[in-house]
Amino acid sequence: MNAVFPGSFDPITNGHMDVLTRAAKIFDHVTVTVMHNARKQGRHLFSLEERLAILHEATAQLPNVSVDSFSGLLVDYMRQQGKGIIVRGLRAVSDYEYELQIAHLNRQLGEVETVFIMAATRWSYVSSSMAKEIASYRGEIGSMVPLASAEALRRKYAELEAGR
Ligand code: PNS
Repeated sequence: MNAVFPGSFDPITNGHMDVLTRAAKIFDHVTVTVMHNARKQGRHLFSLEERLAILHEATAQLPNVSVDSFSGLLVDYMRQQGKGIIVRGLRAVSDYEYELQIAHLNRQLGEVETVFIMAATRWSYVSSSMAKEIASYRGEIGSMVPLASAEALRRKYAELEAGR
C-alpha cells in the first residue's frame, strides 16, 4: 500500500524525518508532498523549489520515498494519485485536535483515510518554526533538522542579513 506524507516542510525537521522513516518501513512507497499555495508563498521562508531541493537531499537515503508537490486540496491530489493513505505525524497531544479536524475533513471531502504516526519523544519540541526562529539568531540547529535543512537555513539567514 502507498502513502502520502503531506506538509509545508519549510523546512523538513528531524521530527518529520522520524515519522517519514517509520512510514517508509510500514508502507510500500511514501511520497513526501509539499502542499503549496502560490498566494501564500510569502508566508514561507523557502520557495517551493528550495523546499523540494532540501527534501530531495534529506530523503536520498530512503529508497521507497519520493518527493512531489501540489497546489490545491489534498483530497484532489490523493484522487490523482489513485488514492492511498495520508500519513501525518503527532508530536504531542496538542497536535491532535488540529490533526483530527483535518483528518475528518479529508474523509468527508474525499473518503481518504489518515494514519497517524507518533514521532519519538525527543522530537516533541522540534518544529520548523522553532528551527527558523533559532537559526535566525544564528543559534545551533544541527540537532533539530537534517543537514540539508540546517545548511539551507544558515545560508538563507546569511543572505537575508547581507540584504540579498
Ligand atoms: O506542515 P503543515 O503546515 O502542518 O501541513 C498542513 C497541510 C499542508 C497538510 C494542510 O494544510 C493541507 O492539506 N493543505 C492543502 C489544502 C487542503 O486540502 N485543505 C483542506 C484540509 S485542511
